[in-house]
Amino acid sequence: MDGNGRWAKQKGMVRAFGHENGTKSVRQTVEACAEIGIKHLTLYAFSTENWKRPKLEVDTLMKLLVSSLKKEINTLLDNNIKLNAIGNLSSLPKKVYKELQEVIELTKENTHMDLTLALSYGSREELLNAVKEISTKVKNNIISTESIDESVLNAHLYTQSLPDVDLLIRTSGEQRISNFLLWQIAYAELYFTPVLWPDFTKQHLSDAIIEYQKRERRFGKTSEQIS
Ligand code: FPP
Repeated sequence: MDGNGRWAKQKGMVRAFGHENGTKSVRQTVEACAEIGIKHLTLYAFSTENWKRPKLEVDTLMKLLVSSLKKEINTLLDNNIKLNAIGNLSSLPKKVYKELQEVIELTKENTHMDLTLALSYGSREELLNAVKEISTKVKNNIISTESIDESVLNAHLYTQSLPDVDLLIRTSGEQRISNFLLWQIAYAELYFTPVLWPDFTKQHLSDAIIEYQKRERRFGKTSEQIS
C-alpha cells in the first residue's frame, strides 16, 4: 500500500493525512475482495524497515491501526471476515498488540475471507526465524536434515496457514518487492500501478484482477502442458 506520503505532499498536506486517507482504500479493497470471493487478502501495512521513520509518523501509524481496528470490527463480523496478523508482533506497542489480539480472537470463527495484516513484517526476518527454528529441531533430533523440504520451511513461516500468493499488487509506481513475502511470491503474478494508495479504488482492483486473468501461469511448464 505505497504512496500515502506522496499523495499528501501533492495536496500540500502532512504525511499523516495520506495515511488517514489510505485507510479508506483499505476499506474499499477489503470490501471488494470479500464481494468477489477472494479467500485470502494480505495487506503490507508496516514493515520492519518502517520503524526507521520519524517517531511522529510511526506513532501516527500505530494510532491509526488501533482506531481502524476499533472502527472496523463490526464490518469484519458482519462480513464473516477473519483477521490475522503476520510479523514481529511482539515489537508492536502494547495498545496495538492488545487491540489486534482482541479482533483476531473475536473473528477467529469467521470463514468467508482471511484478512492478514503484515505488521512489523520483514520477509528476511521471517525466513531467518524459520531457519533458526528448523536448525534447533535438527540439533535436538526432532527432524533430520534430509527431511527438510518446502513443506517443512512453509510450516515455519508466519504464513503457514496461507496458500502461496497468486497476485501481488504494488501501488505508487515503485517496481520492487521491499522485503514482502519473498518465499511465498515465487510464482505470483506481479502487478505495478502508478496509482497512489489513497487513490486506489475498487475499479483499480478490478483492473488488476482483469490483467491477472489474462496472464498465462505456466509454473515452469509449457503452454501446451497447461492448456
Ligand atoms: C506506504 O506509503 C504506506 C505505509 C507505510 C502505511 C500503510 C498504512 C495505511 C494504509 C493505513 C493503516 C492500515 C490499516 C491496515 C488500517 P508511504 O508512506 O511509504 O508513501 P510514500 O512512499 O509516498 O512516502
